[in-house]
Amino acid sequence: MTAAGRAKTGAKRLLERAGFQLVRSTTPQGGVDDFIPFEPTMRAARAAGLSVGDYIDEVMNATPGATQYTVDELRTLGVFAAVPDTVLEIGPGSGRYLEKTLKECSPSRYEIYETAEPWANYLVDTFGVVAQPVTGFSLDATPDDSVDLVQAHKVFNTLTFLGACRYFFEMARVTRPGGRIVFDVMTETCLAPEAMQIWATKGGSGHDSFPAAMPRRTCVDLFAKLGCTLEAHFLAPLGVASTEVLVFRKTT
Ligand SMILES: C[S@@+](CC[C@H](N)C(=O)[O-])C[C@H]1O[C@@H](n2cnc3c(N)ncnc32)[C@H](O)[C@@H]1O
Repeated sequence: MTAAGRAKTGAKRLLERAGFQLVRSTTPQGGVDDFIPFEPTMRAARAAGLSVGDYIDEVMNATPGATQYTVDELRTLGVFAAVPDTVLEIGPGSGRYLEKTLKECSPSRYEIYETAEPWANYLVDTFGVVAQPVTGFSLDATPDDSVDLVQAHKVFNTLTFLGACRYFFEMARVTRPGGRIVFDVMTETCLAPEAMQIWATKGGSGHDSFPAAMPRRTCVDLFAKLGCTLEAHFLAPLGVASTEVLVFRKTT
C-alpha cells in the first residue's frame, strides 16, 4: 500500500472509532450543482398527469410554458431551421429542453454532459442520447469543430464563475464554424433593482451561491475573441425572475 493509501486507511479507522463513516461521494453534494431528485420528481409528475418537463415548469417553478417560450424564440431565430445534425447539451437535467429540441430537429447525434447520473441514464434510455463523462467543466470527449448546436439552459446560473468560464472555452472549441452556441446567464440585463429585490426576498434555493450572475459583456467579449458573434438575445423566465439567453454563431 502507498503512503497515501496508508494515511487514508488510518484516517478512516480514526473516524470509525469516533463513530463516523467515510462514504465516497459519486454525485456533487451540497453545492449549487445539486439537482432535483429523480424518483420523487418522476413520481410527482406522473401523479400530476404531466410530462416531467411540464411538471417542472408548471408546478416546481410556477412558470407554465417557460421552456416552450425559449424553444419558440430559438425557432423564430432560425436555430432549428439550420438543421443541426449534431447537438450537444450541458446539464440537460430532466431533459425538458432536450425533449423540445428533438421535436424541432432530428440530429443524428445528441451528446449530453450531465453530472446527475439518474437523470443522465433516463435521458439515454428515453431519447437515445449519448452521455459523455463529466470531467471538471470540460467537453473532453467531443472533438474540436464537431457540433452544430451547443446549448445549456438554466445551468450557468447554478455553476460558479470559474466553472461557467471553463465551459465557455470548451463550447467555442467544439462548435463547428457556422454552428450555434445557445445558453442563458443571469446578466445585468436581468438585475434591475426590482429583480434584485425579488431575488433577495423570494429567490434562492437554500444555497447562498445560487443564483450566480455573469456579466453580459464578459460573455460577449470572450466569445468574440473565440470567433463567435452574438446574433441574438432575449429574456427567459427563471422562477421568480429571469435569465438572458445569448445566441452566438461561430464564424471562424
Ligand atoms: C438547474 S439544473 C437545469 C437543468 C435543465 N437544463 C433544465 O433547465 O431543466 C442544472 C443542471 O446542470 C447539471 N450540472 C451541474 N453541474 C454540472 C457540470 N459540471 N457539468 C454538467 N452538468 C452539470 C445539474 O445536474 C442539473 O441537471
